[in-house]
Amino acid sequence: MIRKCLFPVAGYGTRFLPATKAMAKEILPILDKPLVQYGVEEALQAGLDGMAFVTGRSKRAIEDHFDINYELEDQIRGTPKEAMLNGIRELIQKCTFSYTRQIQMKGLGHAILTGRTLIGHEPFAVVLSDDLCFGEPGGPGVLQQMVALYERQQCSIVAIEEVPRDQTSSYGVIAGTAIDERLLRVTDMVEKPKPEDAPSNLAIIGRYILTPDIFDIIEETPPGRNGEIQITDALLRQAKEGRVLAYRFKGRRFDCGSVEGYVEATNHCFDTFYQRP
Ligand code: G1P
Repeated sequence: MIRKCLFPVAGYGTRFLPATKAMAKEILPILDKPLVQYGVEEALQAGLDGMAFVTGRSKRAIEDHFDINYELEDQIRGTPKEAMLNGIRELIQKCTFSYTRQIQMKGLGHAILTGRTLIGHEPFAVVLSDDLCFGEPGGPGVLQQMVALYERQQCSIVAIEEVPRDQTSSYGVIAGTAIDERLLRVTDMVEKPKPEDAPSNLAIIGRYILTPDIFDIIEETPPGRNGEIQITDALLRQAKEGRVLAYRFKGRRFDCGSVEGYVEATNHCFDTFYQRP
């Protein structure tokens, strides 16, 4: 059973400066909801209720968001605005939130290792909240699809999608042997390869299920691309033992770490979900 979801949220969000100078990038809203709340909702929908954050300096707004704001709630009690907090109140009621700080930014692998104290020895999910993901209309969310797969396969899983060849240097890229039309057993994975070095155009997006032995592996993983400890390099060790699957999810993903993806996501959500007050 997977119960916990790890959110590495210590990154600076430099692609969104100056917006992220004093504000956490995870609090940037898509319509009226912060990005990180979409991630938590996706995890809860997948049946996970332990939300674990690896946070950093100037990220306090995330903790405040998943907490009660007595003054505000007192102000709007009994007014029509109260209903606007229903969604977040439900999350606070149904989930537990725990936090630990990443003191130095040494890469995604290092951030995940920092979360070990919150996860313990059990399989867990990882959500990178600037990848905003939606399942197909009426269907399960991306993490829910992956959790169902984990229940059958009991090994690490990365979500993938095809990207144009000239974009491989923005992603972890995998190679694998097909199990069925959506599933591959990973044989190789490379962090941010140049197009000519990429083993395919199948890019890892920010949804993972990891088995807990990954922590010991990360501890032994030397710095890789950009001098950072990469989760892709640690996962390659499991992949060499045939213990990583790559899953072409059903649905859509928006790269909200880029201005273009962020605008696209905003338009998509406006067209799909927005109800005029
Ligand atoms: C991270 C991972 C990369 C993955 C990407 C998905 O990179 O290192 O393997 O493809 O997330 O969004 P980042 O975007 O944090 O540089």
